[in-house]
Amino acid sequence: MRIEEFVSNSGPKLRGDYSRARADFTVDQDPSAYTAEEQGLWRRLYARQMKILPGRAAPDYLRHLAALDAGDAIPDLEAVSRRLRRATGWELAAVPGLIPDLAFFALLAERRFPVTVWLRKPEEFDYIVEPDIFHDFFGHVPLLFEPAYADYMQAYGRGGLKAARLDALAMLARLYWYTVEFGLVRTADGLRIFGAGILSSGGEVAYALESPKPRRLAFDLERILRTEYRIDRFQDTYFVIESFARLVEDTAPDFTPIYERLRALPPIAPHAVMDGDRPVQAAAKM
Ligand code: PHE
Ligand code: FE
Repeated sequence: MRIEEFVSNSGPKLRGDYSRARADFTVDQDPSAYTAEEQGLWRRLYARQMKILPGRAAPDYLRHLAALDAGDAIPDLEAVSRRLRRATGWELAAVPGLIPDLAFFALLAERRFPVTVWLRKPEEFDYIVEPDIFHDFFGHVPLLFEPAYADYMQAYGRGGLKAARLDALAMLARLYWYTVEFGLVRTADGLRIFGAGILSSGGEVAYALESPKPRRLAFDLERILRTEYRIDRFQDTYFVIESFARLVEDTAPDFTPIYERLRALPPIAPHAVMDGDRPVQAAAKM
Protein backbone atom coordinates (compact mmCIF):
# COMPACT_ATOMS: atom_id res chain seq x y z
CA MET A 1 0.00 0.00 0.00
CA ARG A 2 1.21 3.50 -0.77
CA ILE A 3 1.91 5.81 2.15
CA GLU A 4 -0.66 8.48 1.24
CA GLU A 5 -3.28 5.79 0.81
CA PHE A 6 -2.48 4.22 4.19
CA VAL A 7 -2.53 7.58 5.97
CA SER A 8 -5.85 8.68 4.47
CA ASN A 9 -7.48 5.26 5.00
CA SER A 10 -6.37 5.21 8.62
CA GLY A 11 -8.02 8.51 9.42
CA PRO A 12 -7.10 11.08 12.06
CA LYS A 13 -6.45 8.42 14.75
CA LEU A 14 -3.03 7.64 13.26
CA ARG A 15 -0.21 9.18 15.30
CA GLY A 16 3.22 9.99 13.94
CA ASP A 17 4.69 11.90 11.02
CA TYR A 18 4.50 9.89 7.80
CA SER A 19 5.54 12.82 5.57
CA ARG A 20 9.17 11.76 5.37
CA ALA A 21 8.61 7.99 5.22
CA ARG A 22 10.24 5.95 2.45
CA ALA A 23 8.17 3.62 0.26
CA ASP A 24 8.81 0.75 2.74
CA PHE A 25 7.41 3.01 5.54
CA THR A 26 10.78 3.44 7.28
CA VAL A 27 12.15 6.83 8.40
CA ASP A 28 15.37 8.11 9.95
CA GLN A 29 15.36 8.39 13.72
CA ASP A 30 16.90 11.59 15.06
CA PRO A 31 18.07 10.48 18.51
CA SER A 32 18.94 14.09 19.42
CA ALA A 33 15.37 15.29 18.80
CA TYR A 34 13.85 13.88 22.00
CA THR A 35 13.15 16.50 24.65
CA ALA A 36 14.47 16.41 28.23
CA GLU A 37 10.90 15.64 29.34
CA GLU A 38 10.76 12.65 27.00
CA GLN A 39 14.12 11.37 28.23
CA GLY A 40 12.84 11.66 31.81
CA LEU A 41 9.65 9.80 30.95
CA TRP A 42 11.69 7.01 29.30
CA ARG A 43 13.82 6.66 32.45
CA ARG A 44 10.72 6.45 34.65
CA LEU A 45 9.06 3.86 32.38
CA TYR A 46 12.26 1.80 32.34
CA ALA A 47 12.77 2.02 36.11
CA ARG A 48 9.18 1.03 36.84
CA GLN A 49 9.49 -2.13 34.72
CA MET A 50 12.85 -3.05 36.27
CA LYS A 51 11.21 -3.14 39.69
CA ILE A 52 8.76 -5.82 38.59
CA LEU A 53 10.54 -7.88 35.90
CA PRO A 54 13.31 -9.73 37.79
CA GLY A 55 12.06 -13.23 38.57
CA ARG A 56 9.14 -12.75 36.17
CA ALA A 57 10.62 -12.06 32.73
CA ALA A 58 12.31 -14.83 30.72
CA PRO A 59 16.00 -15.11 31.71
CA ASP A 60 17.15 -14.69 28.06
CA TYR A 61 15.15 -11.48 27.83
CA LEU A 62 16.62 -10.04 31.04
CA ARG A 63 20.17 -10.91 29.99
CA HIS A 64 19.86 -9.20 26.60
CA LEU A 65 18.02 -6.24 28.10
CA ALA A 66 20.83 -5.70 30.63
CA ALA A 67 23.43 -5.86 27.85
CA LEU A 68 21.56 -3.09 25.97
CA ASP A 69 22.06 -0.75 28.93
CA ALA A 70 19.14 1.40 27.73
CA GLY A 71 17.87 2.67 31.06
CA ASP A 72 19.35 6.14 30.91
CA ALA A 73 18.22 7.45 27.53
CA ILE A 74 15.99 6.68 24.57
CA PRO A 75 18.19 4.39 22.47
CA ASP A 76 19.89 5.34 19.21
CA LEU A 77 18.37 2.71 16.90
CA GLU A 78 21.29 2.76 14.44
CA ALA A 79 23.80 2.05 17.22
CA VAL A 80 21.70 -0.88 18.46
CA SER A 81 21.34 -2.18 14.89
CA ARG A 82 25.11 -2.43 14.56
CA ARG A 83 25.24 -4.77 17.55
CA LEU A 84 22.14 -6.69 16.53
CA ARG A 85 23.54 -7.40 13.03
CA ARG A 86 26.57 -9.02 14.60
CA ALA A 87 24.48 -11.06 17.05
CA THR A 88 21.65 -12.46 14.88
CA GLY A 89 21.71 -10.62 11.54
CA TRP A 90 18.68 -8.51 12.52
CA GLU A 91 18.48 -4.73 12.37
CA LEU A 92 16.02 -2.12 13.59
CA ALA A 93 14.01 -0.04 11.13
CA ALA A 94 12.65 3.25 12.47
CA VAL A 95 8.99 3.81 11.51
CA PRO A 96 6.55 6.69 12.10
CA GLY A 97 4.03 4.44 13.89
CA LEU A 98 1.67 1.70 12.76
CA ILE A 99 2.32 0.44 9.25
CA PRO A 100 0.24 -1.78 6.91
CA ASP A 101 0.35 -5.55 7.52
CA LEU A 102 2.20 -6.31 4.31
CA ALA A 103 4.87 -3.68 4.96
CA PHE A 104 5.30 -5.12 8.47
CA PHE A 105 5.65 -8.71 7.23
CA ALA A 106 8.06 -7.66 4.46
CA LEU A 107 10.37 -6.01 7.02
CA LEU A 108 10.32 -9.04 9.32
CA ALA A 109 11.01 -11.37 6.39
CA GLU A 110 14.19 -9.32 5.77
CA ARG A 111 15.16 -9.52 9.44
CA ARG A 112 14.32 -5.85 10.01
CA PHE A 113 12.22 -5.01 13.06
CA PRO A 114 10.11 -1.82 12.87
CA VAL A 115 10.45 0.42 15.91
CA THR A 116 8.16 3.45 16.32
CA VAL A 117 10.20 6.63 16.83
CA TRP A 118 7.85 8.60 19.08
CA LEU A 119 7.37 8.24 22.84
CA ARG A 120 3.99 8.29 24.60
CA LYS A 121 2.73 11.32 26.55
CA PRO A 122 3.16 11.46 30.36
CA GLU A 123 -0.58 10.85 30.84
CA GLU A 124 -0.16 7.56 28.97
CA PHE A 125 2.37 6.27 31.52
CA ASP A 126 0.18 3.32 32.51
CA TYR A 127 -1.72 2.66 29.35
CA ILE A 128 -1.29 3.34 25.65
CA VAL A 129 -3.34 1.98 22.77
CA GLU A 130 -0.77 2.15 19.96
CA PRO A 131 2.80 0.90 20.16
CA ASP A 132 5.37 3.64 20.92
CA ILE A 133 9.16 3.40 21.16
CA PHE A 134 8.98 2.18 24.75
CA HIS A 135 6.77 -0.79 23.86
CA ASP A 136 8.59 -1.54 20.61
CA PHE A 137 12.10 -1.23 21.98
CA PHE A 138 11.82 -2.35 25.59
CA GLY A 139 9.29 -5.09 24.80
CA HIS A 140 10.54 -6.49 21.51
CA VAL A 141 14.20 -5.69 20.87
CA PRO A 142 16.03 -7.66 23.61
CA LEU A 143 14.85 -11.07 22.35
CA LEU A 144 15.93 -10.28 18.79
CA PHE A 145 19.40 -10.99 20.20
CA GLU A 146 18.29 -14.59 20.95
CA PRO A 147 18.99 -16.79 17.88
CA ALA A 148 15.94 -19.10 17.99
CA TYR A 149 13.57 -16.21 18.72
CA ALA A 150 15.17 -14.20 15.92
CA ASP A 151 14.51 -17.07 13.51
CA TYR A 152 10.91 -17.34 14.67
CA MET A 153 10.30 -13.65 13.92
CA GLN A 154 11.63 -13.98 10.38
CA ALA A 155 9.55 -17.13 9.81
CA TYR A 156 6.54 -15.19 11.05
CA GLY A 157 7.19 -12.42 8.52
CA ARG A 158 7.40 -14.91 5.67
CA GLY A 159 4.33 -16.68 7.02
CA GLY A 160 2.49 -13.35 7.05
CA LEU A 161 3.17 -12.69 3.38
CA LYS A 162 1.87 -16.18 2.65
CA ALA A 163 -1.18 -15.86 4.91
CA ALA A 164 -2.10 -12.63 3.11
CA ARG A 165 -2.24 -14.55 -0.18
CA LEU A 166 -4.36 -17.25 1.48
CA ASP A 167 -6.71 -14.75 3.14
CA ALA A 168 -5.73 -16.15 6.55
CA LEU A 169 -4.38 -13.05 8.30
CA ALA A 170 -6.98 -13.09 11.09
CA MET A 171 -5.83 -16.59 12.07
CA LEU A 172 -2.12 -15.86 11.81
CA ALA A 173 -2.45 -12.60 13.78
CA ARG A 174 -3.65 -14.65 16.78
CA LEU A 175 -0.36 -16.56 16.76
CA TYR A 176 1.57 -13.27 16.97
CA TRP A 177 -0.70 -12.06 19.71
CA TYR A 178 -0.45 -15.16 21.90
CA THR A 179 3.31 -15.60 21.45
CA VAL A 180 5.23 -12.43 20.50
CA GLU A 181 2.92 -10.08 22.43
CA PHE A 182 1.49 -12.17 25.30
CA GLY A 183 3.49 -15.40 25.46
CA LEU A 184 4.73 -17.17 28.58
CA VAL A 185 7.54 -19.74 28.73
CA ARG A 186 8.06 -22.62 31.13
CA THR A 187 11.43 -22.68 32.91
CA ALA A 188 12.85 -24.87 35.67
CA ASP A 189 12.05 -22.05 38.11
CA GLY A 190 8.44 -21.61 37.01
CA LEU A 191 6.56 -19.63 34.36
CA ARG A 192 8.24 -16.56 32.89
CA ILE A 193 7.08 -13.81 30.52
CA PHE A 194 8.44 -13.34 27.01
CA GLY A 195 5.55 -11.45 25.35
CA ALA A 196 6.34 -7.81 24.63
CA GLY A 197 2.82 -6.64 25.43
CA ILE A 198 3.22 -7.91 28.98
CA LEU A 199 6.88 -6.94 29.42
CA SER A 200 6.20 -3.28 28.59
CA SER A 201 3.05 -3.07 30.74
CA GLY A 202 2.98 -1.80 34.30
CA GLY A 203 -0.05 -3.80 35.38
CA GLU A 204 -0.09 -6.99 33.36
CA VAL A 205 3.32 -8.32 34.48
CA ALA A 206 2.15 -9.54 37.89
CA TYR A 207 -1.36 -10.36 36.63
CA ALA A 208 -0.12 -12.62 33.84
CA LEU A 209 1.87 -14.81 36.21
CA GLU A 210 0.17 -14.52 39.56
CA SER A 211 -3.51 -13.71 39.18
CA PRO A 212 -5.87 -16.67 39.63
CA LYS A 213 -8.17 -15.16 36.98
CA PRO A 214 -6.59 -15.92 33.59
CA ARG A 215 -6.07 -19.37 32.12
CA ARG A 216 -2.54 -20.50 31.30
CA LEU A 217 -2.58 -23.22 28.67
CA ALA A 218 0.16 -25.23 27.04
CA PHE A 219 0.99 -23.98 23.54
CA ASP A 220 -1.33 -25.52 20.95
CA LEU A 221 -0.96 -24.13 17.43
CA GLU A 222 -4.44 -24.88 16.13
CA ARG A 223 -6.12 -23.77 19.36
CA ILE A 224 -4.27 -20.45 19.13
CA LEU A 225 -5.09 -19.89 15.45
CA ARG A 226 -8.77 -20.12 16.43
CA THR A 227 -8.66 -18.06 19.63
CA GLU A 228 -9.90 -14.47 19.48
CA TYR A 229 -8.27 -11.83 21.68
CA ARG A 230 -9.10 -8.55 23.39
CA ILE A 231 -6.85 -5.58 22.76
CA ASP A 232 -8.35 -3.32 25.44
CA ARG A 233 -7.84 -5.23 28.69
CA PHE A 234 -5.67 -7.84 30.39
CA GLN A 235 -5.85 -11.21 28.65
CA ASP A 236 -8.24 -14.01 29.68
CA THR A 237 -5.95 -16.72 28.36
CA TYR A 238 -2.18 -17.02 28.04
CA PHE A 239 -0.31 -19.76 26.20
CA VAL A 240 2.90 -21.26 27.53
CA ILE A 241 5.73 -22.43 25.28
CA GLU A 242 8.46 -24.89 26.28
CA SER A 243 11.30 -23.01 24.58
CA PHE A 244 11.93 -20.78 21.57
CA ALA A 245 13.46 -23.76 19.74
CA ARG A 246 10.25 -25.75 20.27
CA LEU A 247 8.18 -22.77 19.12
CA VAL A 248 10.17 -22.65 15.88
CA GLU A 249 9.67 -26.40 15.41
CA ASP A 250 5.96 -26.34 16.19
CA THR A 251 5.32 -23.53 13.71
CA ALA A 252 7.56 -24.85 10.91
CA PRO A 253 4.93 -27.01 9.09
CA ASP A 254 3.10 -25.55 6.11
CA PHE A 255 0.05 -23.76 7.48
CA THR A 256 -1.88 -23.93 4.18
CA PRO A 257 -3.84 -27.12 4.99
CA ILE A 258 -4.26 -26.01 8.60
CA TYR A 259 -5.86 -22.71 7.55
CA GLU A 260 -8.15 -24.62 5.23
CA ARG A 261 -9.29 -26.99 7.95
CA LEU A 262 -9.71 -24.30 10.63
CA ARG A 263 -11.66 -21.99 8.37
CA ALA A 264 -14.56 -24.47 8.65
CA LEU A 265 -14.56 -24.26 12.47
CA PRO A 266 -15.94 -21.40 14.58
CA PRO A 267 -13.43 -19.14 16.35
CA ILE A 268 -12.90 -19.65 20.09
CA ALA A 269 -13.82 -16.84 22.53
CA PRO A 270 -10.90 -15.38 24.55
CA HIS A 271 -12.12 -16.89 27.82
CA ALA A 272 -13.50 -20.19 26.49
CA VAL A 273 -12.61 -23.57 27.97
CA MET A 274 -12.14 -26.31 25.39
CA ASP A 275 -11.83 -30.09 25.51
CA GLY A 276 -8.17 -30.88 25.15
CA ASP A 277 -6.91 -27.67 26.83
CA ARG A 278 -3.81 -28.44 28.88
CA PRO A 279 -3.54 -26.02 31.83
CA VAL A 280 -0.02 -25.28 33.02
CA GLN A 281 0.75 -24.91 36.71
CA ALA A 282 1.26 -21.22 37.64
CA ALA A 283 4.70 -20.14 38.78
CA ALA A 284 5.67 -21.26 42.26
CA LYS A 285 5.64 -18.32 44.67
CA MET A 286 9.09 -17.44 45.86
N1 PHE B 1 4.97 -22.39 8.83
C1 PHE B 1 4.13 -21.25 8.56
C2 PHE B 1 3.45 -21.36 7.18
O1 PHE B 1 3.72 -22.24 6.43
C3 PHE B 1 4.95 -19.95 8.61
C4 PHE B 1 5.12 -19.45 10.00
C5 PHE B 1 6.23 -19.77 10.76
C6 PHE B 1 4.16 -18.65 10.55
C7 PHE B 1 6.38 -19.28 12.03
C8 PHE B 1 4.31 -18.16 11.81
C9 PHE B 1 5.42 -18.47 12.57
O2 PHE B 1 2.61 -20.57 6.89
FE1 FE C 1 4.26 -5.15 19.96
